[in-house]
Amino acid sequence: MIGYGFIGKVHSHAHRSLPLLYDPAPVRTELVGVCTASAASGQKAVDQAGFRYCTTDLLALINDPKIHLIHICTPNDAHREAVIAAMAAGKHIYCDKPLALNAHQANEICTLATMAPARVRQMTFNYRFVPALMRARQITLSGALGDLFQFRVAYLHAGYIDPSRPYSWRTNFARSGGGAIADLGAHIIDITRYLIGPGTGVSRAGEFTEISAELQTIITERPDSLTGEKRKVDVDDIATVQCILEGGATGTLEASRLATGVQDELRVELHGSKGGIRFNLMDPNWLDFYDATTPEAPLGGDRGYQRIESVTRYPKPYSLGATKNAVGWLNFHIQSLYDCVNNISILESGGAIPAASPTFEDGLAVQKVIDACIHSSANGGAKVRI
Ligand SMILES: NC(=O)c1ccc[n+]([C@@H]2O[C@H](COP(=O)([O-])OP(=O)(O)OC[C@H]3O[C@@H](n4cnc5c(N)ncnc54)[C@H](O)[C@@H]3O)[C@@H](O)[C@H]2O)c1
Repeated sequence: MIGYGFIGKVHSHAHRSLPLLYDPAPVRTELVGVCTASAASGQKAVDQAGFRYCTTDLLALINDPKIHLIHICTPNDAHREAVIAAMAAGKHIYCDKPLALNAHQANEICTLATMAPARVRQMTFNYRFVPALMRARQITLSGALGDLFQFRVAYLHAGYIDPSRPYSWRTNFARSGGGAIADLGAHIIDITRYLIGPGTGVSRAGEFTEISAELQTIITERPDSLTGEKRKVDVDDIATVQCILEGGATGTLEASRLATGVQDELRVELHGSKGGIRFNLMDPNWLDFYDATTPEAPLGGDRGYQRIESVTRYPKPYSLGATKNAVGWLNFHIQSLYDCVNNISILESGGAIPAASPTFEDGLAVQKVIDACIHSSANGGAKVRI
């Protein structure tokens, strides 16, 4: 594991959970080594998560023959170097989003991947592993939406409304590659592609082909965490994006760090000629599906949104047996890691990786949309072809 901050802990927790939640587990994993920026945080990872050793030497970790899977859990500017070194060492890779700093770097990674040995190179797009959104994809793939008219996908946080929140790598463009658009936007661009993007067969949908974006920085300075001195913020707090998909359907993406009053609100709304879908991450046990083919009737008849009880109903080998229990955010990361290690097992026994798994190519596609948004906004909201 490279990086042991917030998400490094989440990935470690997922490894610890796999043997308890999946029976049979596709492989037995072990936390071997962790590479961190400081020896102290590495020791913490050893003590907390049970890694066998820690190091601050990236290449020593990547080239350790006892390690087969490398997790990328560092700030975005450190992804490229680690991913390229891990590919050169022939490792499987599980990279948290976004793949790199920008589409140029992501493209370089994907080009090198075509020349590297066959390995699992998977993104942590954890919202693909929300049971309700897995169910939503079943519905979109079944054609039950008909012709897609419109989509509205948003990811809203309020974590930056306090101007005294310190400056960090996340508010520095050179280290993050973007603010809300790269951080939250990466998730909703991916989830839109997962539900109605290429390969889903949804009529009037498909890949993002054109966008027009407005990125705003409202809180333009934040205090340095050590000196308290004000530092200029050069990333967006709020991103508002108009989109056209290759099949002609239009929709909006919205990402915000300043959505006062919300906690962790990922909203998906899809409207088609035959049906509609509605989901809110704050209500993650349920997927709302509207079947517009149900006849209209006096007093409403049977027409209206159906609440599908997705809860924690992952397919087997998820086996805790308590699938009626309410789902939680950590479940999505555990199932996402399960998918990655299961794909390693599939690949190593000669099988093909399922299309629903997020690949580096998906990471590149997301990064192209982020870059287009940054370019559009810098040019007054101009339409940008992707
Ligand atoms: N999928 C999700 O739900 C999710 C959530 C949060 C963050 N993330 C992603 O995870 C990544 C890390 O985010 P975070 O919130 O954990 O950040 P963080 O700041 O909490 O932790 C980053 C860690 O990486 C270490 N680090 C920095 N440079 C390093 C280097 N060159 N080598 C080794 N270690 C290094 C830092 O010391 C720190 O411990 C980002 O790419 C972010 O976008 C994903």
